[in-house]
Amino acid sequence: MTESKYTTIEEALNKGSTDVNLRGWVYRERKSNKFVFIVLRDESDIIQCVISKEKNPKLFEKAEKLTIESSVMISGELKKDERAPTGYEISISDLEILQIAEPFPITEHQSPELLYDNRHLWLRSRKLNAVLKIRHTIVGAIHEFFRSHGYYEFDAPVFQPSQSEGGATLFEVKYFEDKTYLSQTWQLYAEAAIFSLGKIYNMGPTFRAERSKTSRHLAEFWMAEMEAAWMELEEVTEVAKDEIRFIVQQVLKHNRKELEILERDIKLLEHYAKAEYPTIKYAEALDLLNNKYKMNVPWGKDLRTIEEAKIAEHFKVPVVVTHYPIEIMGFYKPPSKENPKEALCFDMLAPEGYCEIVGGSERSLLVEDMVKRLKADGEDPSNYDWYFDLRKYGSVPHSGYGVGVERVVMWICGLDNIKDAIPFPRTLRRRTP
Ligand code: 4AD
Ligand code: MG
Repeated sequence: MTESKYTTIEEALNKGSTDVNLRGWVYRERKSNKFVFIVLRDESDIIQCVISKEKNPKLFEKAEKLTIESSVMISGELKKDERAPTGYEISISDLEILQIAEPFPITEHQSPELLYDNRHLWLRSRKLNAVLKIRHTIVGAIHEFFRSHGYYEFDAPVFQPSQSEGGATLFEVKYFEDKTYLSQTWQLYAEAAIFSLGKIYNMGPTFRAERSKTSRHLAEFWMAEMEAAWMELEEVTEVAKDEIRFIVQQVLKHNRKELEILERDIKLLEHYAKAEYPTIKYAEALDLLNNKYKMNVPWGKDLRTIEEAKIAEHFKVPVVVTHYPIEIMGFYKPPSKENPKEALCFDMLAPEGYCEIVGGSERSLLVEDMVKRLKADGEDPSNYDWYFDLRKYGSVPHSGYGVGVERVVMWICGLDNIKDAIPFPRTLRRRTP
């Protein structure tokens, strides 16, 4: 690669006082009779630049035209300056303007909706820049975690002929003269592949027609899933804990600056990176909720957000809850031998109100039971014949789980809304730009 004379702002700041050549966009500008101040932005950072009328009248005149988000190339001298936002200031000696930007539609104090309407422009904000960098680390960490533990990456189809996580949230799409559905999970196809590859993982787009207008649901999100032959519930929950801890560790290693921009409590993340995460049964969770917190949750009901939040708040770290009532669980989650009313499944609940970030289970090996449960859900079990074949030809115990990538991004970044954890959010109300 040929060396460019341009560096990023971050590289320039790392070098300290020196002559620099930078390219970027005008993040802020302020003009007085004597000076033009520009805060320059690029992918790495921001830096204050100044042009003095007295020292450089021609350049001053040129710079006076600059507007927010104009694109520029500058040369100048970088010097320490306590008053500047990043502690340094550049005195500009040369300025090339590539484009004078039209008045930028985003100004300070905008409504969230306007920011979503202008998402293609809002991606440039320091906040989204920081979130996207942390997301990049999280995605990389997931690949690294599985690849370094002997898992193969395996891809499943996105067009799928039937539901696996409830018919109500299926997205139906036209498929030539017929119809099909968008993937709600990679799992069923992964269950076929473990007979070939043993331990596998994947991360991919996942679609659910979620009608719930919560701050934690997207219609299109990314799920990172794993599936492993010979693995039972206890072991798979430990893999999930190790994965989540590893993700937090990697973010702490690579993204301190971004966490500071987001004003995230880094001490708390350091705690999550090291702590043991407890495992409790659903029945124990109810004990806690009903006895200690005087809530009134009857056995058999799924935990609502406030209840999940309470449990995670109690432990102050991610908590694994296992053995939910089988009645409210998907057809592939098997009954426990000790108590068939309980399913061999788990959720991981994140603290600080972020709740469910992981869902998984052992997989049922009982074809008759699954047929019965599919029928009860109004499904035609014959659509699952290929899946039942997996129980006929060398069936083995196996388990897996899915991590909601945006849920994890949201939690680690401390975001209020999951829509900010993905570049272009898709929800019931939002499918543009
Ligand atoms: O708990 P879920 O529904 O589990 C499954 O789909 C399993 N088949 C996964 C598996 O065992 N391989 O979804 C897994 C995770 C949830 O814990 C949550 O973090 C996330 O995916 N998730 C969503 N994230 C954003 N928006 C939505 N609508 C989500 N639905 C689930
Ligand atoms: Mg779930």
